[in-house]
Amino acid sequence: MTHEREYSGDYPDKTLYIPGPTEVREDVIESMAQPMFGHRMDRMTDLYTTIVEDTKDFLGTDNEVMILTASGTEFWEASTLNLVDENILVPTCGSFSERHANVAERLGKSVDRLEYEWGQAVKPEDVREALETSDTDYDVVACVMNESSTGVRNPIEEVGDVVAEYPDTYFVVDAVSALGGDHVDIDAHGIDVIFASTQKAFAMPPGLAVCVVSDDAYERELEKDSASWYGGFQRALDYYDRKGQTHSTPAIPIMLAYRQQMKHMLDEGHAARARRHREMAEYTREWAREHFDLYPEAGYESQTVSCIENTQDIDVAATIEEVSERYDMVFSNGYGDIGEETFRIGHMGEHTVESIRTLTDAIEDVADL
Ligand SMILES: Cc1ncc(COP(=O)(O)O)c(C=O)c1O
Repeated sequence: MTHEREYSGDYPDKTLYIPGPTEVREDVIESMAQPMFGHRMDRMTDLYTTIVEDTKDFLGTDNEVMILTASGTEFWEASTLNLVDENILVPTCGSFSERHANVAERLGKSVDRLEYEWGQAVKPEDVREALETSDTDYDVVACVMNESSTGVRNPIEEVGDVVAEYPDTYFVVDAVSALGGDHVDIDAHGIDVIFASTQKAFAMPPGLAVCVVSDDAYERELEKDSASWYGGFQRALDYYDRKGQTHSTPAIPIMLAYRQQMKHMLDEGHAARARRHREMAEYTREWAREHFDLYPEAGYESQTVSCIENTQDIDVAATIEEVSERYDMVFSNGYGDIGEETFRIGHMGEHTVESIRTLTDAIEDVADL
């Protein structure tokens, strides 16, 4: 049992290189410190419509956007409740995709897994085969874009093109740790639902989840009476249509931060932001290959999280601790079963190649590489 400890408020600032939360700009943090206002006031309409439309602009999508006070986990549940009558196919290739499958099971759905070993990427031809050969009519194929536990970037565009050949099957993408840092043409690949959390590549504080919903997914929910209430696509999007607000009281300060950060993201642009992330990823991979190895299957490495194989057998936990103590920088151990076998560097949000280099220099120093 965990006992209460005292929160002293006296903690040194640490630069975050974990796979989220990540660094948030000063002006974005400051934008939250404002007197509260009501969620049914005109000011709220101005704020919410601004962040929704800015998000569509940034992502270059004609689909609808909903921003909910929740973390990304909410959309595992909501997309399942909204779209899955009975059957869902979930390619699993790490902890988060497995959790997505577990959530659907917990909600009473019949879940088929297309299982990959950790570190392997989902292959579109396997999804095609599963759809072609199965006797089951799947309501949804749900695929993680960026498996944060293994640092694998799945080819969701190609998977989406395959699923698009099955008009009664909806395609749901968990892009929690990728969207905002890895370019995806949402409308071109039949992606019905794609969602992210604000604390990852959007570089905002945690507390909001963003979900992009196709017209088909919106309509599909019409047929269902067991859809999610809180994460119901129709409830959220209809409310937006009528009032320009959210259906329940949102985390207003984080929406203020969202507005401020969106200005930066629009200034940079989706493609340029993705390019900067690619450069950070390439730098990190090169460094990893020089000193260690990469955990993901070659050619499928993530653009936002590098999962590095601990080929030198360094004491990962002790290295993380010492880098934190001496340099006030924090990176991550491996996830679950690969905790000591790997470690992870989050290169997302507002980081640059330069800021990533300061971390890798610190690791080299501490681990004596
Ligand atoms: C790929 C992926 N999916 C889902 C989640 C859950 O997101 P959240 O913690 O915002 O609910 C995470 C969290 O790290 C993730 O990396």
